[in-house]
Amino acid sequence: MRQKLVVGNWKMHGNAADNRQLLQSLVAGYPSVGDVSVAVCVPFPYLAQVQSLLAATPVAWGAQNLSEHAQGAYTGEVSAAMLGDFGCRYVIVGHSERRALYGETDRLVAAKFVAAKAAGLVPILCVGETLAQRESGDTARVVAGQLDAVLDLAGVAAFAGAVVAYEPVWAIGTGRTASPVQAQEVHAAIRVRIADRDAWVAAGMQLLYGGSVKAQNAGEIFAQADIDGGLVGGASLVADEFLAICQAANR
Ligand code: PGA
Repeated sequence: MRQKLVVGNWKMHGNAADNRQLLQSLVAGYPSVGDVSVAVCVPFPYLAQVQSLLAATPVAWGAQNLSEHAQGAYTGEVSAAMLGDFGCRYVIVGHSERRALYGETDRLVAAKFVAAKAAGLVPILCVGETLAQRESGDTARVVAGQLDAVLDLAGVAAFAGAVVAYEPVWAIGTGRTASPVQAQEVHAAIRVRIADRDAWVAAGMQLLYGGSVKAQNAGEIFAQADIDGGLVGGASLVADEFLAICQAANR
């Protein structure tokens, strides 16, 4: 049995005062969640705050992006080792917003995945198709291509202990969720794609679904055979809602 995992992706939201409240509520409510791993991925400036508030708790944390370089003259960038200095366990890699708004290519995403692994972080690799790609029947090809770019550069062994999140772009922040059947179909295809290279790695990998996950739809999504939890954006900013999503992963 794979451990369930729910990760909050705060995106560019929050401030020091609200974060404190949210984190305190999460920690207070965590015992109700049961046997589910929980983490939050926060903006860089709040990593120190999150570290100090979560260090003595079972809730893990991480960042939403990193540089593909280890160090050097890269103004404005943040390395994997720097994230390690702030106790990060996770880092999101290749979120569709980074791909679409900041021009991150499959190649760059793969390099970031490698940088995260090299520093001992757990990359959460995001893949997913746009609405146009889904409507033209391209979902499987697009997702396979995004995966292969990372598999080819990093090697399948690097996926042991990594996380893949399937996030259909048309479901992110739109209130439109993939149906449990649609999501399961892609998750199963992702697992098979990895199993083609290494069945053991594929069987142990946590695959998350993301895209308008709410307390009300989380249960049936997380009940699918190849869905091991969620990557949650908007709903992770509201403690009760996020905790209810985490609880739904425990069934
Ligand atoms: P959403 O975002 O839950 O607000 O749709 C998910 C994500 O982009 O990670």
